[in-house]
This record gives sequence, C-alpha cells and structure tokens, in this order.
Amino acid sequence: MESNYKIDGIVAIEGFLSDEQIANLRKECNDLFSYTQLMGPGYSVRLSNFVSEVPYPTIKINSVNLLEVAVDIHKELEKLDYKDYKLAHVALYHENKNPNELIWHSDMRNGGLIRAQIVIEGGDLNSGAFRFVKGTQKLKINEPFPPAGFLEKEKDNIMVCNKKNGSLFLFDTIGYHSKCVCMDTRVSLMFDFLPLDYIVNNPNDVSSDIALSSAKISPKVIENIDLFVNGVQNDSRSANTPDFYRFNKPFSGASLKEIVNTFKMVFLRKIGKGKVN
Ligand SMILES: [Fe+2]
Repeated sequence: MESNYKIDGIVAIEGFLSDEQIANLRKECNDLFSYTQLMGPGYSVRLSNFVSEVPYPTIKINSVNLLEVAVDIHKELEKLDYKDYKLAHVALYHENKNPNELIWHSDMRNGGLIRAQIVIEGGDLNSGAFRFVKGTQKLKINEPFPPAGFLEKEKDNIMVCNKKNGSLFLFDTIGYHSKCVCMDTRVSLMFDFLPLDYIVNNPNDVSSDIALSSAKISPKVIENIDLFVNGVQNDSRSANTPDFYRFNKPFSGASLKEIVNTFKMVFLRKIGKGKVN
C-alpha cells in the first residue's frame, strides 16, 4: 500500500477494479444517468444543478456485483485491522459542469466512519479530483474549516487522488478534505463502513438501507452476509441518502426543461415519431 491509513488517514489501492469492470460500469452508468426517473425508476435522481445519483445502486448496477465489491473492500479494512465494521451506505454519483470546488472541510463526525471511493470516470483536476490533507484526522478539530494559513503550511501533505479509474481510496472523513472543480464528467461509487453499535445508536447519521436483490445474492455475498446485517432501521432518515428523500423528491429533482423534454419525448413516441428504446 502506498501509505499507512492509520498514520495518514487515507490510503490508495490502485487497480482495485479491473479495466474491463471499469469499461462495463462506464457503459452502464452512461445509460443510467442519461435520464432522470421521470423516464422510469431505473434511472437517476437529480440532487442539484450539477449532481445526480442512482439511488440504491446495489440493485441497479448489473455488470459488476456491488455487494461483492463491498465484500472485497471490507477485506481491505480487515487487513488494516478494522474488525466488526458493517456496510452502512452505498451511493453512485454523477457530476459535471460544476465550476465550484468543494471547499476544504472536516466532516467532524465521530463513530470511526471509513469511507471508500472508487472513481469510474473523471476524477482528474478538472473533473472533481478528491484531495485530503494527510494526518489531519488526528487533529482535535473544533471548527469544520481549516484555520487561515493551514493549507499553505501543509501543502506538502496534500494528497490529490487523481489516480487511474478503478483505484480504491479509503479515508477518514474527520481529516480535512475537498474536491476540485468538476467541469468534465465524474462518476463515482462511495461505500461507507461503520461499527454496528454506531449505526444502531445513530440511526439517522450516514447509514441507509442497502438494497439486496435476489439476482445479486451470490455465494460470495451469502458467505459474507454478516457485512450487510448492519442495524439500519426501516425508518432510517440519514441526510444525503435516498432514505431521506424517497418520499419527497417531486419529479425526481428534474428541472423544468427536463420535465418538458420528457413529456415531448413520450408524446413523440406515442405518435410513433420518437426514438424507441
Ligand atoms: Fe465531507
């Protein structure tokens, strides 16, 4: 491994997903993000002008079994000596045309959250490269933003995560982190892991339902089923998860333009003039 997670608060594992898996995921994501759920529940939900997500991706993605990917990530956690962690949340995001950086901050969250990120497309300096100040997960942080001059002082400790697509990054969200502008497309997977007792005692913080579909319950998943027995409740309402917005996202977050275009497309199909999938 390139660095020690316990010292740096971040570690990169290159080539975690193969080139073939990445090619297949890109193709599949290209389709899933081509429409919002106005066109059907398999598609995406718009979270902002720049970001969409496919809710509950473990049941939406077919080319790679994301439950098995979670098992493989969990094995990496065990190698780092993190035992008894559960899969708390999985998300699949698409971002583009975002001229704004995500400003440097700490999530100031306890509970020992370990976040895993795998970029499928983009992730470079103009497509949302993730950045982390190594070692800052150990600081006693009382404010979410770094003090003036801190980043300049620590510039040699900033890790820019613009490695080859398919690399796995594990990081501690207490450490200061940010994301570059994202004018070009970035598609990424995020897996959060937490100890069971934190999920049970903080049912509305980070954790969310992990959808398990019959088609994805492979022998490998069954063998590791404990990973998914995570204590998430039926009424989980963690912010930034579909559990929170699933009954409160009119038109799947689509803009007026997208709504009008969808109606137009459906109408043209009805009268036999539109492209039929
Ligand atoms: Fe954050």
